[in-house]
Amino acid sequence: MISFNQKTKVFTLSTKNTTYAFGILGDKLLTHIYWGKKLKNEINENWADDFVWRSHSAFDYGDYSTNYIPLEYPQYGGGDSRICAFSARFSDGSRVTKADFKSFEILDAKPDIEGLPSVYAENGDNVQTLVVTLHDDLKNLDILLYYSVFEDFDAITRSVKIINSGEKMQIRSVLSASVDFFGAGESDIIHLDGSWARERFVTRQKIEGGNISVESGTGVSSSYYNPFIAVCDRTTTELSGNAYGFGFVYSGNFVAGCEKNTYDTVRAYMGINPREFEWVLENGQSFSSPEVILAYSPEGLSGMSRIFHKIIRERVCKGKFRDIERYALINNWEATYFDISEEKIVNIAKTAKKIGIDTMVLDDGWFGNRVDDKTGLGDWVENPEILPNGIDGLCKKINDLGMNFGLWFEPEMVSPNSNLYKLHPDWIIHTKGRMPSKIRHQYTLDLSRKDVCDYVENAVGAILKKANIGYVKWDMNRSMSEVGSAFQVSERQGEVMHRYMLGLYSILKNLNAKFPNVLFEACASGGARFDCGILQFMPQVWTSDDTDAVERVKIQYGTSFIYPYASMGCHVSACPNHQLGRTTPFDMRCNVAIPGQFGFELDLNNCTEDELKTAKKAVEDYRRLGEVFHKGDLYRISSPFDCDVSVNEFVSEDKNTVLVCIYPKTSTVASKDEYLKLAGLDETAVYECNGKLYGGDYLMNKGIHYINDREYKSVILEFKKK
Ligand code: DGJ
Repeated sequence: MISFNQKTKVFTLSTKNTTYAFGILGDKLLTHIYWGKKLKNEINENWADDFVWRSHSAFDYGDYSTNYIPLEYPQYGGGDSRICAFSARFSDGSRVTKADFKSFEILDAKPDIEGLPSVYAENGDNVQTLVVTLHDDLKNLDILLYYSVFEDFDAITRSVKIINSGEKMQIRSVLSASVDFFGAGESDIIHLDGSWARERFVTRQKIEGGNISVESGTGVSSSYYNPFIAVCDRTTTELSGNAYGFGFVYSGNFVAGCEKNTYDTVRAYMGINPREFEWVLENGQSFSSPEVILAYSPEGLSGMSRIFHKIIRERVCKGKFRDIERYALINNWEATYFDISEEKIVNIAKTAKKIGIDTMVLDDGWFGNRVDDKTGLGDWVENPEILPNGIDGLCKKINDLGMNFGLWFEPEMVSPNSNLYKLHPDWIIHTKGRMPSKIRHQYTLDLSRKDVCDYVENAVGAILKKANIGYVKWDMNRSMSEVGSAFQVSERQGEVMHRYMLGLYSILKNLNAKFPNVLFEACASGGARFDCGILQFMPQVWTSDDTDAVERVKIQYGTSFIYPYASMGCHVSACPNHQLGRTTPFDMRCNVAIPGQFGFELDLNNCTEDELKTAKKAVEDYRRLGEVFHKGDLYRISSPFDCDVSVNEFVSEDKNTVLVCIYPKTSTVASKDEYLKLAGLDETAVYECNGKLYGGDYLMNKGIHYINDREYKSVILEFKKK
């Protein structure tokens, strides 16, 4: 939990297995001391000796140089030339902040962050929050640092609140977390990069001198880089070694990275991207940053991921769908694209029902004059030519089959060719005098405005009220450009992208409250907004528009570095695959999708009898095994980026069930004998799989014998403790 030692001036934050410590240096400077394996002893009282500057003394901190010591919340202008977490421009034009330690309090609670999603506590959780106030005397500015310790989850969250009691000022940068790893030597950074249909591929780079950063300036967290980084020792593997993860609870622009100085201290940081952000604070106003989740594990990268998975599943995701088994659905998008009719949808649903699917989702094209992707967005009224009986008529037909009905929306957007745009051309994100760019033929609605948010909320709400809709796919298909708002005054134009996020979050919060029985799934051209912020309101995300099984193995593998399989929408689609043209066996497509939130993205009426049998079994397997896939512990045994065969292992909490998913990428005739070593089992137990018995210790030390001799010979092995 949280303690403060008056003598040593050290704050110690402990979780079940970890310690995070920082101290007050010279009664002023908040200085990072330690983050890692749980310490049994207190930090030694001479902790600051390590940080004494080696040559001349610098600035006004005695033997210490602000450019050298590990700082807990570095600010611009006081001599630290590294990347700073905070910088501002004051009314006199000055840009220097010197906020030193003033006070602290420890709360037995986890406060919410106004207007933003954040990790929450439930009754019975061992959670405490440390609030440290730093104060700049000259500018009468407070910087409040929040650290919430989720003891049983082995996670700490950090956020920052700025309170201005001085003259009007402008925040130029307010990062949410900065951690200095003093003398970090040989370390690596891991980040998740990609593009549309290639989201979250894993990049591991050596941290060498200088700065490595990933960011988004698109207005959404984006498919280019994900708001996640890990810092680890160069020797860290999936199953062993130190791994430090940073996950941002935010869906807009971010920056995250590591800067290594010439003394081998690595500064890791994460927050709103300052490049796209400015914020004016009048006297008496405050600003709260989004939250970062910090997850440390000595058990390698999979260990770090398991910490993220549990806290995201249980304390980021909210609402009734957090805990219950989700739907097995079928979506018509790849089956029909815009060529839809009530009859076609009902026919797809009827066959789906026969194989055990419980939810039929109608995708794009049911509203306004939306005959293709050039029109209609914003006009959320059924197109009578497509739905002669309205959405309620179709919904009733699907419900009568004993299925839930789900519906696609893209509420944040408007087509130029729509009634909404004709009525409100100033409701889009744009900059006066400049031609707004269209992306996918559409504009972004200006959700920094309350009137626009009200419209969006009411338009979606009206449809949800009208019919018995059980699921919504909430899509978002463009990044922002020419950012500006007709509503905001000139000095607040730099606030638009963050205000947009606040608007979006308020809409989602209200819709969640009004429609608690609707499961919302996020989508942004696939997985361009897969982050801990969106997951608070929509507990699953359409992982990628790329449904090719071989590519999906990589995408899901990278995604699992931070996000649990329970949050990944994974569907089986037709072959040749629509994105890549590759043909993979039907059972491989099922085996790749089953561990996620499972479904189909094709017309089952076009499947062969054999395929339908396989599909039916896949639905049964998903239901039978879902609990272990979604709530169990993940061990990534081998990577699709490095190996011919990718292996994911899921272990139930009681270690009684072990599921091993094996996906070959390339195979060889007369392939070599391989053993796939498992992890996380009960080593004293005996496990049974396909009628054979294996010792837990044997499976972990020798492994499963595997021969990779048939193209795409995927399998899900089930081991049961005897
Ligand atoms: C992009 C999504 O990622 C697809 O799944 C589909 O819903 C289309 N939009 C519809 O326009």
